[in-house]
Amino acid sequence: MELFLDTASVTEIKSMWDLGILDGVTTNPSLVAKEGRTFDSVLREICALGIPSVSAEVTATDTDGMLREGRRLRAMHPSIYVKVPMIPAGLRATKILAKEGTRVNMTLVFSAPQALLAAKVGATYVSPFIGRLDDQGQDGMELIREIVTIYRNYRVPTKILVASVRHPMHVVDAAKIGADIATMPLAVMEKLVQHPLTDLGLARFLKDWEKVPKG
Ligand code: G3P
Repeated sequence: MELFLDTASVTEIKSMWDLGILDGVTTNPSLVAKEGRTFDSVLREICALGIPSVSAEVTATDTDGMLREGRRLRAMHPSIYVKVPMIPAGLRATKILAKEGTRVNMTLVFSAPQALLAAKVGATYVSPFIGRLDDQGQDGMELIREIVTIYRNYRVPTKILVASVRHPMHVVDAAKIGADIATMPLAVMEKLVQHPLTDLGLARFLKDWEKVPKG
């Protein structure tokens, strides 16, 4: 499974990129707003790191506006995937952008029918938000199971990008089900690396190593 960071912070991205475990980055308007910088400067800096997949979201809510923004974003860097919301105007825009060769990440997906439609209009990624479903008492991971089944039934090439991930078990469960990608905040990705028994084991090995005669 590919692992993406859900952030617009270049510092955060660099820290995981250096570890060699990062496959891509997803941003959204809320994450970009936290950085206090222009959208373009943030995007250009992220792309310059060499990240192969960088999702950047349109903010227009009409098809023409989405097309304008989507084409501009796509022209900015070959690594950019255009994020388009799952609304009727977004379906229209995705169909056109996909035909033009733009890779679209359909976002704000909360149901299996919406995922079916994202595939139908040629989205490269579909982004179901599981944490936000969990937050309101629905089982987000059940949605991932449904989408995996539907896409397998019809050999749909659209990749399932599990978004709104809150903890490592979301990542593990998504991988067990067979989702293609999980995007997560830095805190969750750091937890994937850490285990207290690893730290304890290493400390013990190093302590014992001191007892070994050197020379
Ligand atoms: O970037 C989309 C998604 O991952 C947002 O997550 O935590 O705001 O629900 P969250």
